[in-house]
Amino acid sequence: MMKILIIGGGGREHAIAWKIARSPKVEKIYCAPGNAGIASVAECVDIGVMDFEAQIRFAKEHAIDLAVVAPDDPLAAGAVDALEAAGIRTFGPRKNAAILEGSKAFSKDLMKKYGIPTAAYETFDSPEAALAYLETAPVPIVLKADGLALGKGVLICATREEARAGVKTLMQDRQFGSAGDRIVIEQFMTGREVSVLSFVDGRTIRVMTSAQDHKRAKDGDQGLNTGGMGTFSPSPFYTPEIDAYCREHIYQPTVDAMRAEGREFKGVIFFGLMLTADGPKVLEYNARFGDPETQVVLPRMQNDIVDVFEACIDGTLDQIDLRFDDNAAVCVVLASDGYPEHYRKGFEITGLDAFDGKEGYYVFHAGSKFDAEGRIVTNGGRVLGVTALGSTLKEARGNAYRAAEWVHFENRYMRHDIGKAIDEA
Ligand code: GLY
Repeated sequence: MMKILIIGGGGREHAIAWKIARSPKVEKIYCAPGNAGIASVAECVDIGVMDFEAQIRFAKEHAIDLAVVAPDDPLAAGAVDALEAAGIRTFGPRKNAAILEGSKAFSKDLMKKYGIPTAAYETFDSPEAALAYLETAPVPIVLKADGLALGKGVLICATREEARAGVKTLMQDRQFGSAGDRIVIEQFMTGREVSVLSFVDGRTIRVMTSAQDHKRAKDGDQGLNTGGMGTFSPSPFYTPEIDAYCREHIYQPTVDAMRAEGREFKGVIFFGLMLTADGPKVLEYNARFGDPETQVVLPRMQNDIVDVFEACIDGTLDQIDLRFDDNAAVCVVLASDGYPEHYRKGFEITGLDAFDGKEGYYVFHAGSKFDAEGRIVTNGGRVLGVTALGSTLKEARGNAYRAAEWVHFENRYMRHDIGKAIDEA
């Protein structure tokens, strides 16, 4: 029987912990730092995601058999290398592979070198050169901070003026610190966005079911970019033909390219795709599970996730037959009103027990904690992800919105059109 330590503390980690808890091989789950929802399936320990020394100490003291590093920052900073060097078996890419997400310039250069379809781009190390390029570049245009910027380092600029302001924000005002010292300026692509997560063991890739995120804060894809306001899975726009094309031209070539570069990737590659009129293209890579994609993908996965994690580490993923239920899932994020800018927190969350024992309905906590009286209170911009299954996407959407009404807290905010695109499919 195994003891597992998860690094992270959001909705994605709650979904991962919930899935691990279903494995008959697991006797105990710890989560650093976790949250009030994760505490229902794991013991939360007060260790930060970047505190590798404390994680190693804890893992040794508690005889951890497997560590799972979920968020981008510790992966890019070498959490897996540090844990492995201390003799702890760990799921996730090493630092030299996590660069696939950690540097946009690296990933664009990789795609160019290996012929993986993506938007045309240029990389700039100085604001002067970037501004000179913008004088004649077509708009709309996309600016990307090279480094990790809390998911906010991508600016879609409708006009040249907006693009100039974007260069100032990223490179001169350094709103995201050193992440914006280098930027990628990229052609704007139009089409449907699809998220495809995959398990990779360095050589073999096993693709999970597709999903789609809704990144804007308000209905109709208005408002500011957020970490994600809801998801659905599968995407009806991701057809078997598109899947076959992506396997041949994007997925396996990416894994092979990383190996060829001496950066063997083991873990999860998240392909952010744009289905353009010219075929599918890579918008971005992430070197981790998506949030809130994980909250709709894992409830549909049939396999024991611990078997899959171990196969990735051992290089035996070719022996895994990854299977998903032939159903659908929708996740509606319940946020604090005002997110992603200014919002209040510390409000009691009620109604959570309505989910107890209801198969096919899940409430994954993103930002919650216990207060001094032991009540569960809001503790972030994104508070909960309510996921529901259904035999069709429409049924899952109806179920998710019904279940969203079971939970209450002051200043609760949600989008009302998650999965509405399904109606157009
Ligand atoms: N849902 C997008 C992300 O995880 O980055």
